Amino acid sequence: MRSSSGSDQERTPTACSADANRMFGAGGTGPGGSVVLVGGGPGAADLLTVRAWRALASADVVVTDRLGPTEVLADLPAGVEIIDVGKTPGHHPVPQHEINAILVEQARRGRRVVRLKGGDPFVYGRGGEEVLACRTAGVPVEVVPGVSSALSVPALAGIPLTHRGTVGAFLVVNGHEPLGVVALTAVRDRTATLVILMGVSMLSEITDQAITAGADVATPVAVVESGSTQHQRVTRATLGTLVRRAAEVGIRAPAVVVVGDVAAEGLLVPDGSAPLPALPALSVLVPEPAL
Ligand SMILES: C[S@@+](CC[C@H](N)C(=O)[O-])C[C@H]1O[C@@H](n2cnc3c(N)ncnc32)[C@H](O)[C@@H]1O
Repeated sequence: MRSSSGSDQERTPTACSADANRMFGAGGTGPGGSVVLVGGGPGAADLLTVRAWRALASADVVVTDRLGPTEVLADLPAGVEIIDVGKTPGHHPVPQHEINAILVEQARRGRRVVRLKGGDPFVYGRGGEEVLACRTAGVPVEVVPGVSSALSVPALAGIPLTHRGTVGAFLVVNGHEPLGVVALTAVRDRTATLVILMGVSMLSEITDQAITAGADVATPVAVVESGSTQHQRVTRATLGTLVRRAAEVGIRAPAVVVVGDVAAEGLLVPDGSAPLPALPALSVLVPEPAL
C-alpha cells in the first residue's frame, strides 16, 4: 500500500492540470465523515462522469485502485491523502477486509473519503462489500456509477454489443470462473454477445469449453487491451484461432474479450467500402468541466 500526503514529488503534472485546478478545491473536513464509491471508468480521465469529478473535488482522502483514471491523482491538491490499495492480477497487496477497514477508519476521523475504482463499482468491483462494511459501521456511504469497461472498452474499439439484425442481447461474465451454462448456450446458439472480464489468463480454457459445448470454431472473437488508454489494442480472431493469435501478439491484461458475431472485423464497414484504416493514436483530452 502506498500512502502519500502532500508529496509533490510523487505527483507529475498532466495535461489536465489547468482544468483540475478549477475542479479540485482544497479538501476540508466536514462535520461528519463519509465514503463515496466512485466509478472511474476504464482509464481515460475524460471518461470520468461530472459527478465523479465533483466527488474528487471535495475529497480529503482518495483510496485508489490500479485500474481506472489514476492520472487524475497527480492533480489533486497537495493536502489530499492518496492511499493506493491497487491489486495486480494474481497479487492482492491489500486484502478486501483491510480496504473496508481503511474506508471506515478514515470516515470515522471525520474525513470525506473517495473510494476510486476502475469502471463501475458494482461490476466485479467489490463495491457491494464496501457499501455493506460502511453501513455496518454506521458510516454514510453513497455510490457514483462509473462507465464500465464491459460496455465502454468494446465501444471504444468500434464493437457494438448489440446490433440490429445480428444479436439483441449481451452477457457479462468473469473469466476466472469456468463458463456457466447460460454463457455456453449464448455462444453456441449465437443468441447473445459474451463479454468476458478478467479472462486473459484463461483464454485456452474458455475457448476449449465453448468449442466442446458445440460452438462454431469460426465464431468471431475480439480482445481489446487497455481500452481508452494510449496502449489500447484490438486483436481479432475466432474461437478456433484465439489461443494461437493471443500468443503471437502477446495479449496482456487488462483486456475485455468479446465473443460473438458483433466481434467480426467487417461488421461496421459499409458494403462495398474499402477496409477501414487503422485508428490514429488515441489522444486523451480532458474537456472543460461542466461544474
Ligand atoms: C476486477 S474487474 C473490474 C471491472 C470494473 N469494475 C468495470 O466496471 O470495468 C477488472 C477487469 O475489467 C476489465 N478492464 C478494466 N479496465 C479495462 C481497460 N481499460 N481495458 C480493458 N479491460 C479493462 C479487464 O477485464 C479487467 O481484468
